[in-house]
Order: sequence, then C-alpha cells, then structure tokens
Amino acid sequence: MFGAGYVGLVTGAALADLGHEVVIRDVLPERIERLRAGDVPIYEPGLDEVLERNKERLRFTLDVNEAVDGAEFLYVAVGTPQTHSGDADLTAVWAVVDELPEGASGRPIVVMKSTVPVGTGERVRERLDARGLTAVGYVSNPEFLAEGSALADFMSPDRVVVGAFEPEDGDRVVELHRGIDTEIVRTDVASAELVKLAANAFLSTRISFINEIANVCELVGADVVDVARGVGLDHRLGPHFLRAGLGFGGSCFPKDVTALKQLAGNSGYPFLLLQAVWEVNELQKRRVIGKLQKHLGTLRGTTVALLGLAFKPNTDDMREAPSRVIAYRLLAEGAEVRAWDPVAHPDDLHGVELCETVLDAVQNADAAVIVTDWPELRSLASSEVRQAMARPVIVDGRNLLDPEAAHAAGFVYEGVGRPRHASPAEPGFLREHDAELRH
Ligand code: UGA
Repeated sequence: MFGAGYVGLVTGAALADLGHEVVIRDVLPERIERLRAGDVPIYEPGLDEVLERNKERLRFTLDVNEAVDGAEFLYVAVGTPQTHSGDADLTAVWAVVDELPEGASGRPIVVMKSTVPVGTGERVRERLDARGLTAVGYVSNPEFLAEGSALADFMSPDRVVVGAFEPEDGDRVVELHRGIDTEIVRTDVASAELVKLAANAFLSTRISFINEIANVCELVGADVVDVARGVGLDHRLGPHFLRAGLGFGGSCFPKDVTALKQLAGNSGYPFLLLQAVWEVNELQKRRVIGKLQKHLGTLRGTTVALLGLAFKPNTDDMREAPSRVIAYRLLAEGAEVRAWDPVAHPDDLHGVELCETVLDAVQNADAAVIVTDWPELRSLASSEVRQAMARPVIVDGRNLLDPEAAHAAGFVYEGVGRPRHASPAEPGFLREHDAELRH
C-alpha cells in the first residue's frame, strides 16, 4: 500500500482485517515511526482498533523494496491535490510508478485507489511498458470511503468498481474482496475512473440543489427540511445528500467537482452544471454573513462564536472546511471570531481565538453560528448559553436545532431554509431591541 494517508490506512487496515498481509509504505519518516509505535496519525472512528487487532498482518515501512518484495498487489493511495489550474496534481502517483523496481516475480497488479483524471490508467500503462514492466498489471478500483464511516464503507460498500485492461487482473482484484457481500461493477479503466468523479460530482450537485431550494424556502416561507423529506421519499430520488446547510467541504467534493469540470473543459466540453454547483457552494458559505448582519447590523466590533470547525462531524479534517471561509469573511467584516471544535484544533486560522468549551466560545458573544453538526451542539439552546451570550442569536448552519424549541428558550434563531415563524425576530428586530436583549 503506497500512502499511509487517509485512504491508504483505512484500506490497508480493512484488507488486513479480511486476512491479507499488508505492507504500508510512506515517504514521511515521522508518520511511519508513529504508526510503528501504534499511534494513529488520523482521526477515524474504529481505525485504531482494526490496526491493533491486525498488527501481526500489518507492517509499516519507508523502503519501497520492502513494500514491493513478494507483493501481489501494489495499491496506490497517495494524494492527488488540485493544482492552480484545477487539474489533479499527479506528482505522487508518478513517483510511485517510477520507483517500482524492475524484475518482480509473478504478475503484481497496480491497483489505483487515488482519485485520478480519466486517462491516467492509460498513461500509467504506457509508462510501465516503456520501462519494460509489461508483466505488471493495472486496475482502477476507486474508493468510496466517507470520513467518519470509512471502515464500514469499505466492509459494506454499495458496490466495488473494478476497471481493468486485462480481465484476469480484474478477476484477481475482485477475488481480493472475498468476504465482502456487494455488487461488483466491472468496467474498462476509463469508465472506472469516471465513476468516481461522477459519483462525487453528483452528490455535490444534490447538495447545491437542496441549498438553492433552501434559499428559495427562505424567500417564500417554506421549510426545506419538510421539502427534502417529501422529495426524498420518491424512490427515484432517494433521501440522501438532501441536507441543506453551509455548503460542502472536505478533501473530495470541492476537488472532484473542479477536477471533472476541468477534465471536461480540457476535452473541449464546458460542464456548465458543475460550474453552477461550485458557485452555489461558494455563495452558500457566505450567506451566513448576511444572516448575521440581518440581526446584528454591522458586524464591526461584534463577537461571533463559530461552533464546529471540521468540514463535517466525526473528523478533525479541516480541508476546504466552510468554517475557513466564514471565519475570514467575519474577520474581514471587523468581527472578533472565537471558535470551538471537539477535535479539530487548527493552528492556521490566524486571528481566530480557539476555545476549550462551547461556553467559553459563546461567553459575551453577539451570535453563535453552528458550522459543523456535532451532536454535542444539539443542546445549544440552553438557558446557560442564553445567559452567557451578550445577544441570543443562533445561526444554525446545519439545521441541527429545533427552531420552535430554540425560540421558546429565548433565542433568535435562523436556520437554513427554515420558516420565519421559527424566529421571533423580524429583520432589524434585534437592532431595535438591542438594549433590552443585552445583559
Ligand atoms: C465523500 C463521499 O461521500 C465518499 O463517497 C467519497 O469516497 C469521498 O468523498 C472521497 O472522494 O474520498 P467525505 O468527503 O468524507 O466523502 O464526506 P461526505 O460525508 O460525503 O460530506 C461531504 C460534505 O458534504 C460535508 O461538508 C458535508 O457536511 C456536506 N453535506 C453532505 C451536506 O452539506 N449535505 C448533505 O446532505 C450531505
């Protein structure tokens, strides 16, 4: 397994759990040392137990030869970040391909887990052939692991996609998944590559769609939670990824939407729908500012508590987290920004004061914004929090709270696409009643 990052560690641990011998190789000495010492460098529920329970079958190394020696499968699970042009940066993928030693016995198969542009498999094949590694197979086997539920996603997937140049190579990769009961989708390499990008782009499209419906709900007085339920019960549409919020983040959706848009554009096709998906998502993060201004007036000199920083709950991942955009927009508006998150403690949110507890964050704050739907925040609309805040404004960016209950507890509550009656405040209400509401 090349890459001891998120995908490599989860996939490696899960394969070991299926009974396979796994050697995980990374180029970062510190990472390998930590893993050897039993210290898991990422936050993923259950991963430490699976690594521990399979430690006899798992090795960690910096040495490419140790990783390749006797290996039947050469998994590539390295990062493919976005470049300035929006294309995927394949530097780490090429580094792995180029350092595969010659003269391997048998027919090892390169299994591509990293998310790569369509056509990458073809290029890897050419590069292997040019080095005389014609006996090395190649299979595209994209991952569909969501952070926070990655192990379960691996063990009980909706499907396993296997795209091979040679059917026998595909058969062997399918065989490796013995013990997992699921639908196997056999394709050519290009189609497997595109399944991954299309799946993430479609899920992102659903989110941007429901966010736009939420924005319409706010104008016409409908409730997006009910609308999503009514829509999602149609079996042709399904209930998933219809939660309106502050927009999607993470290391996958923003990158893959851009990558597919870019890939289509590079091929001469302008993917207009994805352009809109991306733009809606950017605007959605920024709508929080308008909602705060509606209740507080100018934000200059106010204190705003951001509750939750990670791009979603059950992870400490801050990559492309909406909290970043919201924090810097607030700072630019002249607000003082405090933040709390149970696991994400970023050291690069300059100008934001990180707090130990929710109560510390909301103390004397003019507003609290729920940015990540951490379960801990379900009880936010308490009298303790109400007492602590200078002004009792909650902008619930994840529709985590019951609007009626928040209102009954004395808060001015603003969700995403929730009806007006949930809040006692007409626009400007708080400004007019400022003195009364301040402690
Ligand atoms: C996503 C996909 O769900 C995985 O299938 C895929 O394998 C992975 O990307 C990847 O390409 O590696 P992940 O980024 O971990 O997984 O997170 P999701 O749970 O999909 O959430 C992504 C973002 O969408 C989060 O910011 C979340 O808050 C947001 N979201 C999700 C919504 O705003 N509304 C929803 O209804 C669902």
